[in-house]
Amino acid sequence: MHCSTLGRCALVAAWMLPIAGALAADDYDQPPISYSTAEPHNTVEVVRQQLDAGAAALAYDDDFGYLPSLLNALHVPVESQMFVYSQTSLQRGRISPRTPRAIYFNDDVYIGYCHRGGIIEISAVDPQLGAVFYTLGQRESSSPALVRHNDNCLTCHSTSRTGNVPGHLVRSLYVDDSGLPLLDRASYVVNHTTPIKDRWGGWYVTGTHDAQSHMGNLILSEGQATAAADDAGDRQVTEPGELVLPEHYLTTYSDVVALMVLDHQTFVHNRLTQASFETRQALDDEATIGQASDRPDGRLSEVATSRIASAGDDLVDALLLVNEAPLSTPLRGTSGFAEVFVQQGPHDARGRSLREFDLNTRTFRYPCSYLIYSKSFDALPSEMRDYVWQRLWSVLAGEDTAEKFAHLSENDRQAIREILQDTKPGIPAYWE
Ligand code: HEC
Repeated sequence: MHCSTLGRCALVAAWMLPIAGALAADDYDQPPISYSTAEPHNTVEVVRQQLDAGAAALAYDDDFGYLPSLLNALHVPVESQMFVYSQTSLQRGRISPRTPRAIYFNDDVYIGYCHRGGIIEISAVDPQLGAVFYTLGQRESSSPALVRHNDNCLTCHSTSRTGNVPGHLVRSLYVDDSGLPLLDRASYVVNHTTPIKDRWGGWYVTGTHDAQSHMGNLILSEGQATAAADDAGDRQVTEPGELVLPEHYLTTYSDVVALMVLDHQTFVHNRLTQASFETRQALDDEATIGQASDRPDGRLSEVATSRIASAGDDLVDALLLVNEAPLSTPLRGTSGFAEVFVQQGPHDARGRSLREFDLNTRTFRYPCSYLIYSKSFDALPSEMRDYVWQRLWSVLAGEDTAEKFAHLSENDRQAIREILQDTKPGIPAYWE
């Protein structure tokens, strides 16, 4: 760690520290999860094994190292690129407003790249283990290898900020011209419920958003008032060519629609992991207690039932975008991300898809997450999956009229029901 003054050094320590209470003798490193010792099954792991077996190769590029080839191998679209210039992550010495960190993602994988960074950082979405972390060395090698990490990444990626499971992270802070967070100002952990005006501090935002306030594209000097953050209309950037050196990156976009999807997706991924871990732990505790108390098999205790319901309700809220922050003006991207994203479908018989955007008042046209198609959803323990399907049915069939679901109009509920009936394999019979 380089410290110009003692003061700076102390600041660095303050935001790097894990939050109190997190990481306490990680439960998930014990059975039934056994995070560090269980064999991972995710798309990065498949490529890792292929590389080790010589069944796949990665090409080295003089400008970007293994990045283009890795994106290709993992089917991550370059249009998903976003820039973060706050020094909040592992390779912070490489990150500044002139040399931001680029992040790329698809439904299964997130990738972090720093210009001249020693490694590429990767977090994979693992249906059993939550986020699983890997690095790929950026020095040219005859046998490039993906390396799994179980400890150093988790100091930041498994705290209360990720719901105390190995997870994904998006932050928003006020940042100075070297990329250092200004710690006397507000900072936020971001998901789709975060007001747009509090998002994207320390990130470049490209695209159009009119007068919508946000904290992106903002660099504050130490004494400067935070109120400057409100004039976001003046900070609208459609091509950030003048912000970064174009030759340092694959593209110059940091697409606003990609950011909206990232804020949603990381949240749902973490909720899926919480739902999975909580259910497996509840069932495991139940088995232990059941043996001790001779409880007849087949019926869950009230404690286990309520643990599953509580994590299940949180997941349903995230899937249905409950409390999503409203947009005050339309947002449009310019990188082509939205087009690539929507194309993936699936589409129902009438051509509708859960990936379709609204972007006028909310993110998606139909507020039910496309991550319902993910392996992580399908791999939920059946006790959790059954619970979630029942809750979704009761909301979408109009039986549950709780205020928090008021954003789902009668038409929305019907459309989502029909889309799922048409496109979701394994949907319970009572939906037909
Ligand atoms: C000092 C804290 C810290 C450490 C250590 C850390 N990260 Fe992160 N990481 C972050 C933060 C904060 C973000 C959110 C984006 C940002 O601010 O750069 C992030 C985002 C990411 C992302 C983008 C999507 C996601 O999953 O959140 C990837 C990929 C990633 N990190 C990989 C890794 C890997 C791999 C390691 C270990 C080799 C690691 N990180 C270690 C803080 C950290």
